[in-house]
Amino acid sequence: MKKTLVILAHPDLENSVGSKTIIASLSKLPNISVLNLTALYPDFNIDVASEQTALAEADLIILQYPIYWYNMPPILKQWFDKVFTFGFAFGAGAQLTNKTIISSVTAGAPESSYPEGEMKRIMLPVKATAAFCKINYLNPIASYGIYSSPDQDAKTRANILKIAQTHAYKLESLITNF
Ligand SMILES: Cc1cc2nc3c(=O)[nH]c(=O)nc-3n(C[C@H](O)[C@H](O)[C@H](O)COP(=O)(O)O)c2cc1C
Repeated sequence: MKKTLVILAHPDLENSVGSKTIIASLSKLPNISVLNLTALYPDFNIDVASEQTALAEADLIILQYPIYWYNMPPILKQWFDKVFTFGFAFGAGAQLTNKTIISSVTAGAPESSYPEGEMKRIMLPVKATAAFCKINYLNPIASYGIYSSPDQDAKTRANILKIAQTHAYKLESLITNF
């Protein structure tokens, strides 16, 4: 059975609706491991060897994160910078060849505020990194209008939860059929 590795990069999971719902749902699947980068490395001091071992064992790599200023949260960028080394991610002896990667992202803004193709453009650094490392790249799964605020009414909160659950189902289906 194929192995799925979820790299969770959420700076404030406690107050999350999107990533928290998605991760809770995925965690029930077999052959899946979740690495919560913020919990593991609150000081950004990534254990490179441990992350590389986890990646080498995985077939499908899922990057789960909220969009922050049209980008990935800094802990995920740090993870790429430290873990994707020469001889591991690229160059002679590279160990990521033919693995598959997908970004699973949540955005606070509504979909209408993302012009045609904008989300794909935001994802270009991950896509280009995947190409460089000969990793198969799947188009991201993105959900919009996911945010939490103290003055949110129950109906809005329920709608947001539903969007997150639909996102989780899509991802579950992808993993199950991978
Ligand atoms: C620092 C910061 C920057 C953000 N930048 C964006 C952004 O560029 N585009 C957007 O749609 N939402 C943005 N948001 C909203 C988050 O994407 C949203 O709160 C998150 O996806 C909700 O997921 P969660 O419930 O897992 O926290 C930002 C939020 C924060 C805290």
